[in-house]
Amino acid sequence: MDQEIQVMYDKMKQRLDKVVPDVELRYKAELAVEINALKKERNAVILGHNYMEPALFYSIPDFVGDSLELSRRAAQTDKDVIVFCGVKFMAETAKILNPTKTVLLPSERAGCSLAASITAEDVRNLKKQYPGVPVVTYVNTYADVKAESDICCTSGNAVEVVNSLGNDTIIFLPDEYLGGNVAHETGREIIFPTLTPTPLPMGEGRRGEGKKVLIGWRGRCEVHEKFTVGDITTVRAQFPEVAILAHPECSPEVTEAADFSGSTGAMIKFVQKTSAPQYLLLTQCSMGDNIAAENPEKDMLRLCMVRCPHMNTITMEDTLNALKYNRYVIEVPEDVRLRAERAVQRMIEIG
Ligand code: 13P
Ligand code: SF4
Repeated sequence: MDQEIQVMYDKMKQRLDKVVPDVELRYKAELAVEINALKKERNAVILGHNYMEPALFYSIPDFVGDSLELSRRAAQTDKDVIVFCGVKFMAETAKILNPTKTVLLPSERAGCSLAASITAEDVRNLKKQYPGVPVVTYVNTYADVKAESDICCTSGNAVEVVNSLGNDTIIFLPDEYLGGNVAHETGREIIFPTLTPTPLPMGEGRRGEGKKVLIGWRGRCEVHEKFTVGDITTVRAQFPEVAILAHPECSPEVTEAADFSGSTGAMIKFVQKTSAPQYLLLTQCSMGDNIAAENPEKDMLRLCMVRCPHMNTITMEDTLNALKYNRYVIEVPEDVRLRAERAVQRMIEIG
């Protein structure tokens, strides 16, 4: 075991030398060895979202990535147990795709303000208000909301998913800002229904008629809504050549003022492929650490006053306990799962 811990420590040190203090690396290398041994014993796979803290991110996951990449990985696994180091809607997506496997989420508190912003009842009401209009839901929703949808999307494929439908009018839920960004990129207007239906500009959603419209919802990510154009202006005044990357859950004004907007995976690739004097990510702070660890020659600025309180609840200690005590088991009722699976699979087929 001591030898294994040393090997793990060396591996983590090589990657995280400039990012994580040694004292933490030694402690987490021990934890990582224990987690990996249990992972093997239980025939488990660990999926780690790009927002995980650096020591976890670079030690225990078998696969890391954005929501789309991890959905694909979840669809392909042949392991008995899936441990999702991410938030509940992601673990639910893994369960939707793997009904016979055990899916574990290490923290009971790993929710998401977007997923909490809409219910299945809300979607049913919208469908009554706009009959026949296809429903696209962001994967940041719970299974019963996905079950009411025609197709899901992530920030990595939202534009492709909307374009694939061929309808002038599409219901796009629940992120107001992702909806605004997708509307902009697909040449659409976005409208927001109130208790009574908002009249469609023209054409009532019939294919090929009138204006192109997204019918949105006022859900927001409690993290990304905090970034402002003022933040960008202030940072640019201090670092005139900085490349600013904004997640599409930021407001359309912020993504417009940034140099690049894309999913967490797309942001990582952007930094790898370019060479700016500095980079600033407008997203969960720990991702900046993960990118800095992989690109030591690049200068990453951090705006760490903004953090996702849900992603932050996933720790290595809880991941160990998840495997040890088989918790917290994610369940989805079969009738809901079957309907949600169609929407998720349709998305995965698009890319
Ligand atoms: P990605 O799909 O870009 O990984 O984003 C997930 C998320 O929750 C961002 O806040
Ligand atoms: Fe949800 Fe925002 Fe946290 Fe992502 S960053 S999990 S969208 S609250």
